[in-house]
Amino acid sequence: MRGLTDISDLIRSRRTHKSFGPAPVPPEVVDELLELARWAPNHHRTNPWRFRVLGPETLARLKEAAGPGEAPKLDRAPTLVVASAVLTGDLEQDEEDICATASAIYAVLLAAHGRKLAGYWRTPSVLRTKAGRDAVGLPDGERFLGLIHLGTPRSDPAVPGRAPLETYRIFLP
Ligand SMILES: Cc1cc2nc3c(=O)[nH]c(=O)nc-3n(C[C@H](O)[C@H](O)[C@H](O)COP(=O)(O)O)c2cc1C
Repeated sequence: MRGLTDISDLIRSRRTHKSFGPAPVPPEVVDELLELARWAPNHHRTNPWRFRVLGPETLARLKEAAGPGEAPKLDRAPTLVVASAVLTGDLEQDEEDICATASAIYAVLLAAHGRKLAGYWRTPSVLRTKAGRDAVGLPDGERFLGLIHLGTPRSDPAVPGRAPLETYRIFLP
């Protein structure tokens, strides 16, 4: 699948989608997105990311763990991927591996957007609980970083405000 290719346009126009059409992302397209994740920078080439693509049984377990209040929110997107970082216990390495995994998640979101798919990086609290982690098979030693929602866009989300360059670019003498 090919779509937008200019990286500046891609970065500016990617949006968080919260409303998705029913069609799941085909497994081969999920693989295209996740194959791009491995090109994210990672120090010492630790390849720390793990992406678990949820099937229906796992989603049912996760919804059970989430409870009736939160479970319906897990039905928003047809394709869900749990992104996590494998940690070693070495604080410096772990910090870098978390950064690398966040970069990999962003690569997936940009790649999805480039294919005109909708994406959403969500951090539902259920995946910070033991029950939620168990539901998706997250072992001790992996840090949950995001539940990536993927699917077809149903709307054109508004552009959230961004701080202007002058507020965060600091020239040093
Ligand atoms: C680490 C991380 C966690 C996020 N978790 C959530 C979340 O739990 N719920 C949510 O609505 N948005 C979440 N977001 C999405 C941001 O709210 C969103 O990126 C922001 O509003 C800017 O919108 P945009 O992505 O369309 O530019 C998360 C983003 C990041 C980077």
